[in-house]
Amino acid sequence: MRLLGLVACIHVFISLLALPASAQAQILFQGFNWESWKKEEGWYNFLQKSVGSLADAGITHVWLPPPSQSVAPEGYMPGRLYDLNASKYGNQDALKQLITALHGKGIKCVADVVINHRTAEKKDGRGIWCIFEGGTADDRLDWGPSFICRDDTAYSDGTGNLDTGEDFAPAPDIDHINARVQRELSDWLNWLKNEIGFDGWRFDFVKGYSADIAKVYVEQTKPAFVVGELWSSLAYGQDGKPEYNQDSHRRQLAQWVQTAGGVTTAFDFTTKGILQAAVQGELWRMKDAAGKPPGMIGLLPEKGVTFVDNHDTGSTQKMWPFPSDKVMQGYTYILTHPGVPSIFYDHFFDWGLKEEIGKLIAIRSRNGIRPDSIVRIIASDADLYVAVIDEKIISKIGPRYDVGNLVPPNFHVATSGKDYCVWEKNQ
Ligand SMILES: *[C@@H]1O[C@H](CO)[C@@H](O)[C@H](O)[C@H]1NC(C)=O
Repeated sequence: MRLLGLVACIHVFISLLALPASAQAQILFQGFNWESWKKEEGWYNFLQKSVGSLADAGITHVWLPPPSQSVAPEGYMPGRLYDLNASKYGNQDALKQLITALHGKGIKCVADVVINHRTAEKKDGRGIWCIFEGGTADDRLDWGPSFICRDDTAYSDGTGNLDTGEDFAPAPDIDHINARVQRELSDWLNWLKNEIGFDGWRFDFVKGYSADIAKVYVEQTKPAFVVGELWSSLAYGQDGKPEYNQDSHRRQLAQWVQTAGGVTTAFDFTTKGILQAAVQGELWRMKDAAGKPPGMIGLLPEKGVTFVDNHDTGSTQKMWPFPSDKVMQGYTYILTHPGVPSIFYDHFFDWGLKEEIGKLIAIRSRNGIRPDSIVRIIASDADLYVAVIDEKIISKIGPRYDVGNLVPPNFHVATSGKDYCVWEKNQ
């Protein structure tokens, strides 16, 4: 028995050593919102002034907006991919300076990669916008209509492959089965990495192409971090509310991540949707039928990037916003639970939550809470949710103030605010 214990000890020790540093503490920060391109001095210049605060708060990765020339000012309709000087966020030099400043504080930079679709530079003889320009003097990324998916009939000349995912109506969908497309987009990503300094990718609209295609780009560019935006609707009941069971939604995320492989993670839209319904008097939603977290982090926690809002769901678009008066309950949940938590620019800076969020990050890091930490849920009533994470911290959200004897005497309050509290174990 003693020998077995020793072996188990050594095993735990070795697996700790084998764990990459990045998996131990990763806090992603979305460094822009839907209006950032309007900033007069340029967003890259503006954000550079916040690098110190981000580092002090314990941010490890910053997600920056799509950097290329784009028909839409926010960057999500890119055309000349190599042209980083026509971006509304600033030019290539300003971007490189920002990345250098972030790297100087040990923060990794994640590019927003929009490759499902692409806008053309010119019309062809038919009058169709389908002649692409790469943004270089040579012919890299200079494509024509045969590089567009055959079933994107508004733009295609009928010679490309079928789309491997959903159509994006406003722009031509690129044929990612085409070998030259794969090669030239991989080269471009490697240029963003080696020339511009990006460390990882946030893949936009991955519903638009298959996970096998994402896998190609991950394998050919070997990023330090990857997160995919696989945004699909939760299952809703007749009452217009999310159903209690969202297993098929989170399984879709897990399957995508496992197929794309490597370091790939996915935004945990399941947790986002359930959590924002739960904080409205339905916290019983936060425990699934197996007693675990109901989102992707209850299934494949180390591959889920949890978040409260982003430039689409919140900001000025407000497509699916978290209840604004309950945002700190959202951050308490994601910053005490497994997964890779992501913090939105607006909440941290514009909403004045920097200090409150900062305290939660500090608690997470000093207790070594990780993407694969273990959750033990001890209350999930309508007005109270309490969970113990790694037997080190206790996290409570909900309006019920009295938690009775759920918190043992060897724990003390580490931080608290409106309808949330976190305890940590006495040393
Ligand atoms: C953008 O500007 C940089 C710095 O001036 C320059 O090196 C680069 O070639 C420019 N890129 C394009 C596509 O014009």
